[in-house]
Amino acid sequence: MSEQTKSQEIAVVILAAGQGSRMKSDLPKVLHKVGAVPMVGHALAAARSLDPAHIVVVTGHGAEQVGKAVGKLDETAKIALQAEQLGTGHAVAQALPLLDGFDGRVIVLYGDTPFISEDTLAKLTTHDADVVVLGFEAADPGRYGRLMTDDAGNLLRIVEFKDADETTRAIRLCNSGVMAVDAALLRQLIDRIGNDNASGEYYLTDIPGLARDNGHRAAVVTCQEAETLGVNSRTELARAEAIFQARRRIEALEEGITLTAPETVFFSLDTHIGRDAIIGPNVIFGPGVTVESGAEILGFCHLEGCHISTGATVGPFARLRPGAELGGDVHVGNFVEIKNSVLDEGVKVGHLTYLGDAHIGERTNIGAGTVTCNYDGVMKHRTEIGAEAFIGSDTMLVAPVKVGDHAMTASGSVITEDVPPDALGVGRARQTNKAGLARRIMQALREQKAKKGQR
Ligand code: UD1
Ligand code: CA
Repeated sequence: MSEQTKSQEIAVVILAAGQGSRMKSDLPKVLHKVGAVPMVGHALAAARSLDPAHIVVVTGHGAEQVGKAVGKLDETAKIALQAEQLGTGHAVAQALPLLDGFDGRVIVLYGDTPFISEDTLAKLTTHDADVVVLGFEAADPGRYGRLMTDDAGNLLRIVEFKDADETTRAIRLCNSGVMAVDAALLRQLIDRIGNDNASGEYYLTDIPGLARDNGHRAAVVTCQEAETLGVNSRTELARAEAIFQARRRIEALEEGITLTAPETVFFSLDTHIGRDAIIGPNVIFGPGVTVESGAEILGFCHLEGCHISTGATVGPFARLRPGAELGGDVHVGNFVEIKNSVLDEGVKVGHLTYLGDAHIGERTNIGAGTVTCNYDGVMKHRTEIGAEAFIGSDTMLVAPVKVGDHAMTASGSVITEDVPPDALGVGRARQTNKAGLARRIMQALREQKAKKGQR
């Protein structure tokens, strides 16, 4: 009998207690980012794809920091503490009290292995053996645990590299670390794991052998080696980032998004882009960006925590920061920065502008060099601009301030008071012309320069 669907409740345990000393970092390893999201966030996203009844993250090194980050990434995840890192088996044992009464299937993932695909996890969870281990054929098996199988493809046991003899080390089928076990069986076996081995650790990898000894069935499901890539050093982190970006670019292209120069575009784990959007070269997507279909992002834009609606065009050289909401057909041009501001449909902000803590009504035009002076050194204040208004170039809007519908501001104005609807706000000195003065000044300056030259 091969794989068959077995619909069961799922609990995911993510191991994230290890130190990661090879990262040479004060930051716990699983908080280093790939695709702008901490690695443990990738594990959490993979976990959520299984629609689990429980997610437990086992923390140890930097437990407080990791716990906090996990709370932000997924408020449903529970945290178990492994005060001392006595091995992967011991780590899973710390999670079990939080799964009291749960009798489905437990999936163990690592917090530092960001690439296990949803398809692979689905294969693992629907397999009908009591213990299912995710294995892979390693190009270079190195120090991975080795999977010993029989001719029928059953998993006999896992042997850790340190405990393996030469024959076993010659096996190329390796342990990814990902495992699915029936919860009741796991509870029954976890205390029988000993630490009489080369590392003196409690190995989770003893579970398949113990299960078999007790008459249960263990099996292997395999995946591509690339999915099992773990991160242990900054070099591997950089490699993981490159792999992540390469995948996301291909996904984007296949989803019907145009990337003019794919290799120069950088995505986050949670970037959402609609079909027929066009992304120019050198665009960086920080976390939390949604671009609706048909929008266009020109080159050299930096976007984070923002929403860009259908028909909008952004850039080149624009920066959208968290809370920037662009309505349909909005145009944001070069050297424009927008933060925590809503731009209603059809707003145009063509050049050299800062909009922060503002609301701009439909079809309003913001002239070049406009600045919302939103910060007084202590507090932030809002700017409200109505619909179909016209903000003249080089207007300083000293917040809190309101400009009504169909109102205008004169170029170069410092607007400190509200401008009522339909009114023109002028806040600058009146121009006077001094006849001949320019010529006299220039002449005086040239004479000064000539005198200096003689000395
Ligand atoms: C483990 C497997 C090995 C497999 C390899 C794949 C065991 C005994 N060995 O080896 O078969 O080929 O992963 O990468 O499981 N962790 C804890 N608490 C602990 C120890 C580890 O949370 O007490 C976490 C680590 O943070 C890490 C994961 O478990 O995320 C794996 O631990 P690690 O020490 O890297 O295991 P390996 O020796 O690589
Ligand atoms: Ca490892």
